[in-house]
Amino acid sequence: MGALGSVRVRHNLQSRLTEARKRTDEVFQIVKDEAIYDRPINERHRIIFYVGHVDAFDWNLLAERAFGLRSFHESFDKLFAFGIDPVGGGLPTDKPSDWPAREEIHRYNLRLREELDGAIARALGEPAEGHPLLIPMLETAVEHRLMHAETLSYMLHQLPADRKIPGENEILWKTARAKSHLVEIQSGHTSLGLRRQHAEEFGWDNEFEPQEAFVPEFAIDNYNVKNRDFLLFMQSGGYADRSLWSEEAWAWKKQENIEHPSFWRRTGNLWMYRTMFGEVQLPLDWPVYVSHAEATAYAKWLGRKLPSEEQFHRAAYGTSDVNVEREYPWGDEAPSPRYGNFDFANWDLKPVGSSPRGASAFGIHDIVGNGWEWTRTEFAPFPGFTPMPFYPGYSANFFDGKHYVMKGGSPRTAACMLRKSFRNWFQPHYPYVYATFRCVED
Ligand SMILES: [Fe+2]
Repeated sequence: MGALGSVRVRHNLQSRLTEARKRTDEVFQIVKDEAIYDRPINERHRIIFYVGHVDAFDWNLLAERAFGLRSFHESFDKLFAFGIDPVGGGLPTDKPSDWPAREEIHRYNLRLREELDGAIARALGEPAEGHPLLIPMLETAVEHRLMHAETLSYMLHQLPADRKIPGENEILWKTARAKSHLVEIQSGHTSLGLRRQHAEEFGWDNEFEPQEAFVPEFAIDNYNVKNRDFLLFMQSGGYADRSLWSEEAWAWKKQENIEHPSFWRRTGNLWMYRTMFGEVQLPLDWPVYVSHAEATAYAKWLGRKLPSEEQFHRAAYGTSDVNVEREYPWGDEAPSPRYGNFDFANWDLKPVGSSPRGASAFGIHDIVGNGWEWTRTEFAPFPGFTPMPFYPGYSANFFDGKHYVMKGGSPRTAACMLRKSFRNWFQPHYPYVYATFRCVED
């Protein structure tokens, strides 16, 4: 990287951290003061934990390791260090009174940001003397925070509307009639993963090394499965048909009494839908948000499957020229609102097919944006995987056969994480995530 390039990266990283902080600050701003100790999802921490966590993470990652800064509040550094992954653990039992006041955490965050910003500016001014991994560590801080901006949105989606201060949100019901059909994708190679070639190109450990895969011919839905489609599955008894569910999924469904997607609520004969800031009648043309287990059962009902990670890549980035792949489904241009519903432009979904300019070369719509897409691929390392030295558990803790790869992105996914190699993952029974799906025949 030339001198000019490194100046650009440094400048860019400082402003990206500032922008990312704005994103998490604006998510917390929708929480009314009286709701800050609420726990909208039983298996997760109370909201107050995250107010401290997104900043304590930066401090714990960078302060001593990169800058030799001494802690000014060790108990908060520890208290806010770790989130909860709900697999296997019991429910947390802490009380609101176990947590500090919102104001006290704000003071901690302010001081921490001031100290870190000073140190970052000094270190980036003298790159030769700084920590050799400073740039990837700063990228980690930025993307970790942006991921929380999204997972906090899932969490606050479950918080009752009267506990929130509504943000700007456009509810779009319909676009031109979107007719779903399967699109044939001819066989061909596809590339996954990321090559370590530019110092400025950041990827998480699970994105390396680059992979080539040959994908035999298959057919894939041009649109996501809509609420309208999923309603048919429900009405035809899909939730009661044992043959559509794996043993674990069936046990989960029975234990949790799952009879419909978690964003839906029945009132009399009507289905209501929980948007971020209140209930509306079920928007029939929006992609359906469901767990992996529900998506899998629906696909099986039609005699189809969820796409594999390789099929997703081929459908999203491939072209009719088998030697040419795109950076994004729509081409090589950076993400912008004309190409899809992502990067915090909205809190909720849009009807399928609302961003026709973002369709892939094969005419697959919304494959990046407007909801993550479940795949049938278990989350596992690519050959050549090496954990990040400063965050060894980021991916490795989840290579347990209990998580599935999600690709694409939701309305609350930051533009930088719409890159082709980015992989997200969740366990199959977690119902709150902004994930939808489409089916394949292969
Ligand atoms: Fe975190």
